[in-house]
Formats: sequence, C-alpha cells, structure tokens
Amino acid sequence: MDLSFEGKTALVTGAASGMGLATAEAFAEAGAAVALVDLNEGAARKIADRMVAAGHKAIAIGCDVTDEAQVKKMVEQTVTAFGRLDTAFNNAGVQSLAVETADSTSEEFDRVNAINLKSVWLCMKYELLQMRKQGSGAIVNNSSIGGLIGIPGRAIYHAAKHGVIGLTKSAALEYAARGIRINAICPGAIDTPMVAAMIAKEPETMKDITKEQPIGRLGKPEEVASAVLWLCSPGAGFVIGHALAVDGGYTAR
Ligand SMILES: NC(=O)c1ccc[n+]([C@@H]2O[C@H](COP(=O)([O-])OP(=O)(O)OC[C@H]3O[C@@H](n4cnc5c(N)ncnc54)[C@H](O)[C@@H]3O)[C@@H](O)[C@H]2O)c1
Repeated sequence: MDLSFEGKTALVTGAASGMGLATAEAFAEAGAAVALVDLNEGAARKIADRMVAAGHKAIAIGCDVTDEAQVKKMVEQTVTAFGRLDTAFNNAGVQSLAVETADSTSEEFDRVNAINLKSVWLCMKYELLQMRKQGSGAIVNNSSIGGLIGIPGRAIYHAAKHGVIGLTKSAALEYAARGIRINAICPGAIDTPMVAAMIAKEPETMKDITKEQPIGRLGKPEEVASAVLWLCSPGAGFVIGHALAVDGGYTAR
C-alpha cells in the first residue's frame, strides 16, 4: 500500500496541538510539504521550524479559521509556498462545557458552531477552489463520535459535529466524479490537551472517561493521524463521503 506523500502538499488546521499536530508530523514524515495552520501562530511556527530543521518542508500560518478573509489568504499562502494543494485535514476545534440544553446560551451556540462547523465549510470552500482547478485532492474533516451519537449535556457540540458530517457527505457527492475525495473521521476520546482540559474543568463528568471506552484506554493522537493519512492515500481511492469512527469501540455498542 502506498502511504508516501512525497511531492504532495498537506494543509492541517489546528496543527499546533493534539490530533492536528500528530497528523502534520505524520504527513511530514511521509514526505509531504506541510502547512501548519493555527490560531496559535507562535506554537505552529516553533513546530514548523523544528520540522524544517529535521529536513522536512513546512510553513506555519496564523489563521482564525472562523474568518473568511483569513481562510482565503491561508489557502493562497499554502499554494504560493508549495505550488498546489493535495490534502487537507480540517481539524481545528474547541470543546464546550457540559450543560443541560435548557441552560445553554446562544453565545455558546454561536461560538462553538463558528469554530467547529462554519470553519469546516469555509476551509473546504477555499481548498476546493484550488482542488477543482487541479482536478485532484483529498479532504478529511474532523467530526467526532459527537457527530454520530448524542450525549447528555453536549447538544451544542454534537450539533456542530453532526453538521460536519452533513457538509462532508454533500460536498463529497459534488466532487466524487471529479478526482476529489472528501471524508470525515469521528474520533472517540483522544489523549490531547483538549481532553486534559475537560478532565481539569469537569472532573465529575469526566471521572470515568477511561472506563467508558470499550478498549479501556484513551486513543492516541497518532492513531487518528494514521487514519487521516490512509483516507488521503490512493489506498482509500474508493472511499467517499464516509464518516470513519476511530473510537476504541465506543459507537459499536
Ligand atoms: N480530543 C478528543 O477526544 C476529540 C474527540 C473527537 C473530536 N475531537 C475534535 O478533534 C479536533 C482536534 O481536537 P484536539 O483534541 O486535538 O484539540 P486541541 O485543543 O489539542 O487542539 C486544537 C487546536 O485547534 C486550534 N484552534 C482552536 N480554535 C481555532 C481557530 N478559531 N482557528 C484556528 N485554530 C484554532 C487550537 O489553537 C489548537 O492548537 C477538534 O475539532 C475536536 O473537536 C476531539
């Protein structure tokens, strides 16, 4: 199976931490030139510098993925730097504290849906403008098990993550016959700074997090990265509009 990305360009949003970082590193290791996109430009730059020092091709781009002008510029910067765009992992996102729906606020609904849903649409829009010109490309959007099931207290987050799968499937059908494949991944609980923050902020809700996973442990960011690389590889050439659970068995129950 060909998992080489030699000569390819990969764009990763939320690349300064967690799954985005692991995926950017995996793309670089596999030979891709990588654009590390993050709100935290300083952290992305340090990682890109480290990659370049290790002999990889990488640039850091500071970008708020909720801002259309910044997203447009970020995709243009990637294409200017590397000449094309072959794969994109639209991954940047935030959590939302557990709250009963009756107590949730419209400010939190707007914040979470802007960062976790609208940003995926915006990033796809500008990535697809480039991929459509090329007649090739592969996009993976980071949804969640929250895109497949409900969990009490998480309605706003889950609404956004269900939305990511709707965007993925509809766009995938538009481009299926034009050389561009679009899929989603649905991670379960993964050991990232996001989950560490949830455990710190919501110790009661999160106390059984490991026990709740059928596999008996949290997932590793690298286990998500390898699924993303496979979805972007020629080996997944017939996989279109799929929402792939990478969840240690969580949604198999
Ligand atoms: N960790 C989990 O268990 C889990 C499970 C399922 C899905 N997810 C999803 O996976 C994605 C990555 O999560 P993670 O756990 O690696 O998180 P993380 O907090 O470790 O990393 C998220 C990154 O996104 C960046 N970011 C946040 N808002 C941004 C914005 N507006 N513009 C640009 N960058 C922004 C942050 O700076 C950070 O570097 C998110 O979409 C999250 O919802 C996480």
